[in-house]
Amino acid sequence: MHPDTHTQVAIDLGERSYGISIGAGLLSQDTAWQGLPAAATALIVTNDTVGPLYAQRLQQSLSAHYPKVLTHSLPDGEAYKTWETLQSIFDVLLENACDRKTVLFALGGGVVGDITGFAAACYMRGVPFVQVPTTLLAQVDSSVGGKTAINHPIGKNMIGAFYQPQRVVCDLGTLQSLPARELSAGLAEVIKYGPMADMAFFDWIDHNLDALLQRDPQALAYAVKRSCEIKAHVVGQDERESGLRAILNFGHTFGHAIEAGLGFGEWLHGEAVGCGMVMAAQLSQRLGLVDAAFTQRLTALIARAGLPTVGPDLGAEVYLHHMRVDKKAQAGDIRFVLIDPPGSAVVRGAPDALVSEVVQACCR
Ligand code: NAD
Ligand code: GLY
Repeated sequence: MHPDTHTQVAIDLGERSYGISIGAGLLSQDTAWQGLPAAATALIVTNDTVGPLYAQRLQQSLSAHYPKVLTHSLPDGEAYKTWETLQSIFDVLLENACDRKTVLFALGGGVVGDITGFAAACYMRGVPFVQVPTTLLAQVDSSVGGKTAINHPIGKNMIGAFYQPQRVVCDLGTLQSLPARELSAGLAEVIKYGPMADMAFFDWIDHNLDALLQRDPQALAYAVKRSCEIKAHVVGQDERESGLRAILNFGHTFGHAIEAGLGFGEWLHGEAVGCGMVMAAQLSQRLGLVDAAFTQRLTALIARAGLPTVGPDLGAEVYLHHMRVDKKAQAGDIRFVLIDPPGSAVVRGAPDALVSEVVQACCR
């Protein structure tokens, strides 16, 4: 194992603690699954894009541990993060008489991970599941921390559960087949960790962005590891988002409004988060929490990562409307994750007039 490209991060949640394995080629290594709960059946849940690339490899290595390994493929896309898709997983589990020890393996990006995790939380009131994320976004964020969900037409991720996986296995090799637009979307979630928690990491991303865009294995390994460490540290203190965990949503309040306002699937989640971070930085600046140099530096990095920095012109009222149904909102009052100062974040409200000003300044 290369010391720089194979590593482990622990997430400390008492009896729900688990490890995040990070390395190239892990999918095919049956040692990656050692120590997981024993079961008669494992169900790989994947999608029509990722399945043909990686499901067979995973099936083979899982066969060393599980007598029966089934695969269920979902249609690809955020638009399918729905009740109907969730139901299809229950259909497969029940049609195959899967018992409550069955282990689910989520092989894919955040959409597959979120739906599979929610299915695992619900099936027979909870079966074990393992996250096998194959996008950068899923490796640095969505597979870690136990948020699982499907969308409701009125709001993103509105129906779900906190339900921790048994393990997260990030095979860095899978990132080589990721479309460039998806790599950039994942970089948005990497970049977010800098301003909200660690400006030294922000500097590192700034210096290594070209290597990340070229998918240099060591740069990717460090970006995934450091992101997971930061996320594990935050989730370890506030698993169910009673407070601190909300800072992981830097860029997401504006971002979710973009996604919902345009219709889910129009912009990628990471693209919306990238632009949302620019808007949240602008709001932080207008509230006197950061200076213009910080906002400019963050905006330039987001643009270099191949992400949009100008939002869609939906009108301030549409943004405000969607942000009022954000999960952080309290009694209709929108709460934003703001940077104060760079390297740390606060969650607080802001006057509608100032938010409208930001929307007008940032959207065309
Ligand atoms: P995604 O799951 O839609 O994957 C992006 C695209 O890449 C899809 O077309 C997928 O089929 C394809 N793909 C995946 N892996 C591939 C690979 N290795 N090679 C080639 N193609 C590949 O999107 P995503 O960006 O991974 O995740 C976004 C979702 O994650 C959103 O639904 C968002 O709400 C959710 N999310 C959840 C959390 C959480 O904490 N649970 C955090 C952030 C985001
Ligand atoms: N992606 C935000 C969280 O996990 O809390």
